[in-house]
Amino acid sequence: MKAIVCTKYGSPDVLQLQEVEKPAPQDDEVLIRIHASSINARDWRFMRAKPFFIRLMPGGFLQPKNKILGADVAGRVEAVGSNVKQFKPGDEVFGYLPSATGRGTFAEYGCANENAITLKPAKLTFEQAAAVPLAAITALQGLRDKGNIQPGQKVLINGASGGVGTFAVQIAKAFGAEVTAVCSTRNLEMVRSIGADHVVDYKKEDFTQNGQQYDLILAVNGYHPISDYLLALKPEGTYVVAGGSMLQLIQAAGNKKRNTNAGAQKTYIASLAQSQKDLNFVKELLESGKIMPVVDGCYPLNKTPEAFWYFEKEHPKGKVVITMD
Ligand SMILES: NC(=O)c1ccc[n+]([C@@H]2O[C@H](COP(=O)([O-])OP(=O)(O)OC[C@H]3O[C@@H](n4cnc5c(N)ncnc54)[C@H](OP(=O)(O)O)[C@@H]3O)[C@@H](O)[C@H]2O)c1
Repeated sequence: MKAIVCTKYGSPDVLQLQEVEKPAPQDDEVLIRIHASSINARDWRFMRAKPFFIRLMPGGFLQPKNKILGADVAGRVEAVGSNVKQFKPGDEVFGYLPSATGRGTFAEYGCANENAITLKPAKLTFEQAAAVPLAAITALQGLRDKGNIQPGQKVLINGASGGVGTFAVQIAKAFGAEVTAVCSTRNLEMVRSIGADHVVDYKKEDFTQNGQQYDLILAVNGYHPISDYLLALKPEGTYVVAGGSMLQLIQAAGNKKRNTNAGAQKTYIASLAQSQKDLNFVKELLESGKIMPVVDGCYPLNKTPEAFWYFEKEHPKGKVVITMD
């Protein structure tokens, strides 16, 4: 089968289209004929080995251990292992693979544990479905599990126009929150169109210094010192960091330690946990029309390096999708 192989750490030019062995499913796995995948910041980090400690994790110190990148998947089940109960050949599925499997989805076929996937909502194309899983579940778990989001709360999403942020805006609205979305000028209309009640252009205004306070802040990108975030948070508010600068993450981790018993403002770092239950929750939101993926563009598998250059340089609106057909 054809796959994009990350031959060494570096720029998107290290990604090569190669012929590799088609994977075979284990007893609890399904073999998926992949129709689409999408790029997440995680893939970019594994390609660039940024931050450096990626090399100390399963990434591989001198060269990538998992040479096929890609986590999100949408496709059709081609075969099932002997213990698989939930799926049969022909089912249209979507989901995402944990990074530890060593098998990526920028490929024509992939194997997934049956608990990593679910049936694709019929109204979504494969391209749309592939744009959803990892980013939407990160947003859901950050807002609901760490942020304890409640109806009527004032919620701010910093980094609202990217992969995670576009889902965070819609999921926060689905939970009944009043949402302020922070992004750059060119994306203000888009985040309004997906439901943001208020928008802040980070190029023109610093939301931490305008006197507004929020019940919940989800920081998906950017950098503000922790002291500024706490200034923009109500006295009992919650601050959740999903991404952004390394300093932003380190400061949040430090503040979380200090604040363990404080009971007032809370600080959390979102960390994605594999959950079929959450995937099904996201599926229901999709089916009810409460959320829809924002797809910036689709690239065929052989143009994956171009897709990564675009992802790296252009701040995509929502997700960049890779198609196999
Ligand atoms: N913790 C976890 O488990 C987990 C899981 C998934 C992802 N993540 C992390 O979450 C982050 C978000 O990923 P993503 O896929 O949504 O895309 P992303 O490309 O990292 O973020 C895009 C968003 O950030 C905004 N942005 C870019 N530069 C900014 C700046 N200097 N200041 C403020 N905002 C800025 C963009 O706005 P404009 O385009 O309008 O400029 C856009 O809204 C990544 O760092 C990723 O590693 C964490």
